[in-house]
Amino acid sequence: MGRTKEEKCRLVTGFGAWHIGDIHVSDGPHGVRAQEDGAKNNDSYEAACFPTASGAACSWDPELIAAMAEGIAAEARELGVSVILGPGVNIKRSPLCGRNFEYYSEDPYLAGELAAAYISSMQAKGIGTSLKHFAGNSQETHRMTSNSMIDERALHEIYLAAFEAAVKKARPATVMASYNYLNGMPACENKYLLTDILRKRWGYEGLVMSDWGACVNLPECIKAGMDVEMPDSSGNHFAQIMAALDSGSLTQDKLDEAVSRIDRLCSDYPAPGGPGSDTKNKAKAISRETRTKDHELAKRVEAESAVLLKNDSFLPLADDCKEVLLIGDLADHPRIQGGGSSHIHTGHIDGFTESFDKCGISARFVRGYKSNTFNRSAKLEKEALAAVKQAVADAVPILFFGGLTDMAEGEGYDRESFDLPSNQKALLEQIFAVTGDIGFVSFGGSPYDMELPSECRALLQLYLGGEAAASACVDILTGRINPSGKLAETIPLSEKDVPSYGFFADQGEQSSHLDDVEYRESIFVGYRYYDTFDVPVRYCFGHGLSYTEFKYSDIRFERDPDGHSSIVFSLENIGDKDGSEVSQVYVRSTDPDAFRPKRELRGFAKTYLKSGEKKEVVIPLSDRAFSAYTGHEFQTIAGRYGIQVGASLNDIRLECETDIEGVSMNSPLDIHRQIPLSDEDFGILYEHERTSFSDTKPGGFSTGNSLAQLAPYSALARRWAFIGSLIARFMYPGRSASDPEVRMTLGGILEGNLDTICNQSRGLISPKTIAKIVDSANSSKTKKP
Ligand code: BGC
Repeated sequence: MGRTKEEKCRLVTGFGAWHIGDIHVSDGPHGVRAQEDGAKNNDSYEAACFPTASGAACSWDPELIAAMAEGIAAEARELGVSVILGPGVNIKRSPLCGRNFEYYSEDPYLAGELAAAYISSMQAKGIGTSLKHFAGNSQETHRMTSNSMIDERALHEIYLAAFEAAVKKARPATVMASYNYLNGMPACENKYLLTDILRKRWGYEGLVMSDWGACVNLPECIKAGMDVEMPDSSGNHFAQIMAALDSGSLTQDKLDEAVSRIDRLCSDYPAPGGPGSDTKNKAKAISRETRTKDHELAKRVEAESAVLLKNDSFLPLADDCKEVLLIGDLADHPRIQGGGSSHIHTGHIDGFTESFDKCGISARFVRGYKSNTFNRSAKLEKEALAAVKQAVADAVPILFFGGLTDMAEGEGYDRESFDLPSNQKALLEQIFAVTGDIGFVSFGGSPYDMELPSECRALLQLYLGGEAAASACVDILTGRINPSGKLAETIPLSEKDVPSYGFFADQGEQSSHLDDVEYRESIFVGYRYYDTFDVPVRYCFGHGLSYTEFKYSDIRFERDPDGHSSIVFSLENIGDKDGSEVSQVYVRSTDPDAFRPKRELRGFAKTYLKSGEKKEVVIPLSDRAFSAYTGHEFQTIAGRYGIQVGASLNDIRLECETDIEGVSMNSPLDIHRQIPLSDEDFGILYEHERTSFSDTKPGGFSTGNSLAQLAPYSALARRWAFIGSLIARFMYPGRSASDPEVRMTLGGILEGNLDTICNQSRGLISPKTIAKIVDSANSSKTKKP
């Protein structure tokens, strides 16, 4: 029997926090965060915590990412979860984005390849995925109300390209539309994005859901191509959609399309255990066998991903090393993941001391600083310095554990500083006065100022390495594993060097325009900027050292009659340790004037070679190897190109040149410009209206606005903002205001749209109350600063 109109309308509003139709969806992406409705963010079933995306990406290994996805799928199945909400392929336009740890890269080709591997592998195991956050969601500040203003070429070459590759190659079961506005229109209501590009141009047939609370006007979202809002809106949007059907503003056909996509998802990815099976009463524990296997897998992923940034003959530790000194709170409480919706509840976190112990090395430990504050502790510093002096006297190797702590980054807010936490900096400086003979083990979801760490004799970047980070790290430090990770992003010298500087979050000019984010660097994101404009960096894109050495030789470029090209070369391990090498192919434009990056990553391969072994490596180049987005589509650009093979962007080992036929580059700007672009130059590229949401005046507010936006105009909004802040603190008694969960909750209340606050408040704020708040702001005559 067919469904009634009411049933259909109910279906597109989701069920509770985690159900679409009768299936359970769950975060993701680096583990399973399965939880019951009403649970607090970190209150989920125990599951394996893998390295987060920014770390795993440094493996440059699609097969490894596929293995990790398979491990997560096995746990999802056991926990009754049908769809994992990931992977995330948003592009890192600033290292300060609080959520970068969940994203792969600043380069869309690398991000797209890794995401496609994740999706294909997970879906082959019968668990669906959700490619997110579509699109242009590259900051957390005002994430529900800010407008990402991206010129058409940058949108396609940089911000959509990873989504495009993943959609075309791997057909994700679902796509998640993001919180932000894109070029003046909420992503969820953006027909250009959801229908014209995603469905028509890329041929996507799966389901589109909203990010949690991103949907304010459900009928408009469905008209634009979205299928289901998440989580459900406590019945509030049901009336909206019924009314839209009755008035004819939403057609029955459009609603039916959404309903049929929901049905298809539920039949393609039924609740593990069969369609309609009761996921609620299942035993919510992963079997010991799966859990043990995944712990080992998490270790393997981290071992293949950690990046040895510097090594002045300090590592590996000597074979006869029997003792080490570990300094830093992070050695005792390794930071293995970020805060927010991706937080995995794991009870199996490897420790450093035990991991050294297993290798027959005893670890002295001294805390030195606390990771839950930036404040210094004279007592801890004094103890650390005494321990350092003793270690020097005893010739015991010293390792400093530092980097970004939980206080520094998390979902829902952007980082306030690029610095190494000040208490760590102060301690490190004092240690340097005693000895520079130390190694630095670094944590963090994103780059930070590595000036001091890079003065150590060795620097190993673990990123957020998952539950087995410590044991993987110790295997690298002791030489049991040869490091092979390479940076999937650039580590700049300073935040001021970042091309989006001043036009991101609340930096500089941007601070008075939080809701209007002009992507003034256009296509020059990450290395595309540093490389083209000769800006020196701390560690370049693709950089990473090994304990062995690789020799590159005999480059050859091949192109078949269908236009598919590949690069062939020989790679030899000429050192005395077995190991893997990530070889990268960059295509170099030789046109000195074109508004184009000097070089772009167009292929890569990871090759394992035993000591003394030599192999021929063939790297197919991407379809886009010689193209740019010009004339509203990707086209091959005619010209002479250099094709480089290297161990990193700045360590090119081989190069050949070739002539390519195509169209000529058609850009209104040449390359001789300042980045970020001037107002005038950006205006030339940006074809949309230059909206000014930050300057919305009384009369223009709606429930799509946030308390933060309305507060200057409404005493009622200010009162609710105050009450909301108290509630956020009350929900997490005893936690500090800088705790990531507290900050995310607070951000959600102050910067979330009013409609969502009402829907998720469990009756505390009614639709009438938010209407009153909006009315009071709309009728205001004054603005409080
Ligand atoms: C995040 C998504 C996540 C969802 C469900 C949102 O706040 O942006 O990435 O999947 O919550 O937890």
